Amino acid sequence: MPTVGSFPTLCTEIAGIPVVELARRYTTPFYVYDAAKIVERIGDLRAFDVVRYAQKACSNLAILDLVRRAGAVVDTVSAGEIRRALAAGYAAHGDPPPLVYTADIFDGESLDLVRTHDIHVNAGSPDMIEQLGEVAPGRNLTLRINPGFGHGHSQKTNTGGEQSKHGIWHEQLDACLRRADHHGLAVTGVHMHIGSGTDLEHLSQVCGALEKAALTVGRTVTSISAGGGLPVPYHEGQSYVDLDEYFRLWDGTRQRLERAFQHPVRLEIEPGRYVVAESGYLVTEIRAVKRMGQNLFYLVDAGFNNLARPILYGAHHPLAVAPLDGGAVRRPVQPVVVGGPLCESGDIFTQQEGGFVCQRDLPAAAVGDYLVIGCAGAYGFVMGSNYNSKPLAAEVLIRNGRDHLIRERQTFEDLVRGEIVP
Ligand code: LLP
Repeated sequence: MPTVGSFPTLCTEIAGIPVVELARRYTTPFYVYDAAKIVERIGDLRAFDVVRYAQKACSNLAILDLVRRAGAVVDTVSAGEIRRALAAGYAAHGDPPPLVYTADIFDGESLDLVRTHDIHVNAGSPDMIEQLGEVAPGRNLTLRINPGFGHGHSQKTNTGGEQSKHGIWHEQLDACLRRADHHGLAVTGVHMHIGSGTDLEHLSQVCGALEKAALTVGRTVTSISAGGGLPVPYHEGQSYVDLDEYFRLWDGTRQRLERAFQHPVRLEIEPGRYVVAESGYLVTEIRAVKRMGQNLFYLVDAGFNNLARPILYGAHHPLAVAPLDGGAVRRPVQPVVVGGPLCESGDIFTQQEGGFVCQRDLPAAAVGDYLVIGCAGAYGFVMGSNYNSKPLAAEVLIRNGRDHLIRERQTFEDLVRGEIVP
């Protein structure tokens, strides 16, 4: 596995197919995913007993189908995600559960699906235990515990500590076990997820906290989950977490629990970003090149309606120019600001948290050249919107050297479907 990210600023092909060819076939902007990268990333995690893909990162049915064939099970956080998993061929229940519903609330539809399909629940609030117990007493249950600390690549992706709404507060575990007992629910799993895009130091603190919680629950526990959160390099020079070391820490926790309980304990990991981020590219076309004082702007046809991470978190994504001429001519590099088409100043791909615009060194480019945004597979398409009445982009999967359309670009008719003029 590579240890650091390196991102060329010229990109002529994606997974062996020329960008220009893809752009001719699909209207920009569109997302492209490299299937081989997803399969490789799932394979990296094979030391864990179960890889449970957090589909919120990228939930196209074709991606779920690919993930399923690569041997990973799936996490779901809504009725829609449960339906997606079922539609992609996952069985509703089994051992280990092919689907788990992980959330802090049930809405009517998700509770109904959980009840009728016998879907395993990872409860993130005492109320969920109560509500599940009322409609499905006697089930097995996992508890998501908030250990009282958390960490993420942004404060907005930190899911632990008392500022976070996620999970069952660690000091309320005893009370929750009594609630579960009251309904005959057996707590068979313990889960923690402290945040997204964190680091090894914070991730490894979870082992001790989870061990303590599992010992409090006791011998009914047959499965523990390390949650997700594994980072990927988005910047030049950023590195991956040492997965061998991470597994070793968790395996140690698991083995101590097995000794305490005198039975096997399954070890799960629940990554979203790690599985899909690097597989995905957002391909855009440069539609204007203009100067504003010190800043040269490349304005492309994708905006935060397509990729919201920069405006939401000041997230950095690798950017590369894909020249219309296929890269035949050498181009000087220059500092530029890259923005989109939306009627809002924050529609900038090169910005830091707080909305401060920054420059990036990119090859000289003109209207008609393409600009490729890398590491966009996780929390890219799925966080898209119809802001400014822009259609959701098409999605394309490249598998074995061939590109497949896996989602059509929305039409105007899709945009106004359901609207009613009384
Ligand atoms: N498990 C649970 C319970 C989660 O809440 C999440 C992410 C994951 C697993 C997967 O985390 P990952 O391995 O992808 O870091 N929109 C943000 C990320 C939000 C993550 C929400 N929960 C972003 O674009 O960075």
